Amino acid sequence: MTWKQVFTSSVGRKLVMGLTGVFLILFLIVHAGLNACIWANDGGEMFLKGAHFMGNNWVPRILELGLFAGILLHIVQGFMLEAANRRKRSVGYAVTYGNKGSKWYSRSMGLLGTLILLFLIMHLSHFWYPNRSHQGFLLGEEINLYQQMKEVFSETWVVVAYVLGCISLGYHLAHGFQSAFRTLGVHNKRYNAMLTRIGIGFSILVPLAFALMPLSFYFGWIH
Ligand code: HEM
Repeated sequence: MTWKQVFTSSVGRKLVMGLTGVFLILFLIVHAGLNACIWANDGGEMFLKGAHFMGNNWVPRILELGLFAGILLHIVQGFMLEAANRRKRSVGYAVTYGNKGSKWYSRSMGLLGTLILLFLIMHLSHFWYPNRSHQGFLLGEEINLYQQMKEVFSETWVVVAYVLGCISLGYHLAHGFQSAFRTLGVHNKRYNAMLTRIGIGFSILVPLAFALMPLSFYFGWIH
């Protein structure tokens, strides 16, 4: 496969989706892990130490560029795949199998991805943008992200929007996790059942951990 085909053929595009998907899954693990420090319930001390390292060190800041490139590539290639699928199948099926053929969320990856994109735009405007603009987009003094979370998560509609965003993420991962590893070649009888179980576990636990963060501030479980 040539480099051009990696970005333009449907097999190449699936490969890019799989690779960027695994990269984004790794990001989610690090992001959830670091954020989980809020539950130390120490007024944000432990979380702010981690956030300071991530925001004020060149290595994570260069990785951040890779992260944004990965997110963009995942969105563009996903959009192209979705558009091609719709073009190929402009006439609906005579018999719709519904959930017997494939799960609803496997057929709704484009819709779920769009909801996550809307969530991300809101989310970056709550934390990333105020912090980076305060820093002058280079290394510099940060805002207090713990205090920012307390303020952002004091509003009911925001907390509801975050929980809905996390539910969309859960369903997106329920298909995406297994699909990414299958595209990358983890596909035989021995591993399939294990991969399905790990995928379902991941897509429940990680979004649940994220959803509990705004809820913890809103209900005053942490201070
Ligand atoms: C729901 C609980 C979440 C909380 C409390 C939270 C908190 C934060 C905070 C405080 C930052 C700012 C970091 C900085 O400026 O250095 C951030 C950045 C970010 N978050 Fe979240 N996040 C949550 C969920 C998510 C989810 C579910 C996603 C992805 C679907 C996500 C994707 C991102 C991205 C892409 C960034 C920018 C990363 C960077 O370059 O610093 N977050 N988040």
